[in-house]
Amino acid sequence: MLNKIDGMGIAATNQPLSAAPPLKGAVDRRRLSQLMDREIERFRSENPKSQELFESAEGSLVGGVPMQWMIEWPGSFPLFVRQAKGVTVTDVDGHDYLDFCLGDTGAMFGHSPDPVAKAVVDQASRGLTFMMPTEDAAWIGKDLSRRFGLPFWQFAMTATDANRFALRLARDITGRPKVLVFEGCYHGTVDETIATVENGKVVSRGGNVGPPSDLAETTRVVEFNDLDGLAAELAKGDVACVLTEPALTNHSGIVLPDPGFHEALRALTKKHDVLLIIDETHTISSGPGGYTAAHGLEPDMLTIGKPLAGGIPVAVYGFTADIAAKIKARTIGPGTSIAGIGGTLTANALALGAMRAALEYVITEQAFAHMIPLAEQLAGGVEGVIREYDLDWYVTRIGARVEYRFQPTAPKNGSEALLGKDGELDRFIHLYFLNRGILVTPMHNMLLTSPKTTAEHVDRHTTVFNECVGELLNASP
Ligand SMILES: Cc1ncc(COP(=O)(O)O)c(C=O)c1O
Repeated sequence: MLNKIDGMGIAATNQPLSAAPPLKGAVDRRRLSQLMDREIERFRSENPKSQELFESAEGSLVGGVPMQWMIEWPGSFPLFVRQAKGVTVTDVDGHDYLDFCLGDTGAMFGHSPDPVAKAVVDQASRGLTFMMPTEDAAWIGKDLSRRFGLPFWQFAMTATDANRFALRLARDITGRPKVLVFEGCYHGTVDETIATVENGKVVSRGGNVGPPSDLAETTRVVEFNDLDGLAAELAKGDVACVLTEPALTNHSGIVLPDPGFHEALRALTKKHDVLLIIDETHTISSGPGGYTAAHGLEPDMLTIGKPLAGGIPVAVYGFTADIAAKIKARTIGPGTSIAGIGGTLTANALALGAMRAALEYVITEQAFAHMIPLAEQLAGGVEGVIREYDLDWYVTRIGARVEYRFQPTAPKNGSEALLGKDGELDRFIHLYFLNRGILVTPMHNMLLTSPKTTAEHVDRHTTVFNECVGELLNASP
């Protein structure tokens, strides 16, 4: 068993390597650091073109990247990509990578799926954006209703925007000021949701850049799976909506709902006239209608973005007929106006064309029938390695999404999950994979299987994971 210290997951040892082989299952921090140096050296020597591009970009892009998250990849600079197709990403130095990150869900059905690529090419010569709908919009609306069970839909550019618009409408409809979110949640760069509780007070979460207002004014926060806490906060009467993923998947890592959690959440929100918004952006990994369809959830509103158009920016939010009528009364017709929702390029013709192709031909039952068994195989492979080495780690899965964590058991809530974070170990494992041609989502040990992933790909991950752990522990199973 591992010795947990400082919430970092795994204890360091100060004993010299040769004199004290690590205990079974424990990671020696000095060994980790030596191995990390070796991997960084290898990364540098094998990626000269990426390094050169990074160094030249540093002169004009903050941190050498167009978006700050791109420096979260391990190694001393990000890889620059030449092209990607299916689950293969090729970098500018000519290396091919087997991709389990898949654009952190944006490309979870494989890079540039043929039907989406064709739709993009077809639409590109017929106009890109008009601020008028195309035929595809009506087809998509019907398909979304069929998948997710909500009758009415609106579009946004990103999942962040869909969540922002849903929150605004919820406040407008209910006349209440606050959103309730769960500790450790992530719903994009939505101001009200980047919150935590410190000394009993809701405050902005560490690292949140320039919060516009006191989060205590906009937000209530409770732990996921804490029904008593939820009931107490909703009883205060100022909550417009609960915004949650069906299972937490992002900032905290995966936290699954307890049996009965969703039934109780629905009953409590109804009891207090609070709208329930389910964010399916990541849990679409559960099936073509997300966790909502797979588990019969009945939200008032549903938001989703990322993979809906195969990687072209698009998102949607759906709602019940009752909410649709209220939105209509508020936004359409004489004496109404609309500010705070929508955007000029939203639902542009290119995005609609790509989205229709993705929904019709890519995000299908057949795709999930392929992806989910492979994710089970992936989780089984990781679990086997964890058992072989008697590690105090666990693996969890939600449909086609798998995660392994440096904790002995699955956490019940976001705070417990955050205790299992180990940035040092994370970065090492990621870099080890990267140097051996495998991409894993940065900041998590989170992996997605896609319609283009094969059993051999999964076995390759298991083999490299096994080698990585063996080297870390300086042992064989
Ligand atoms: C559950 C969830 N919702 C919303 C978002 C925001 O997505 P985007 O950054 O594409 O706006 C994310 C991003 O990771 C997410 O995980």
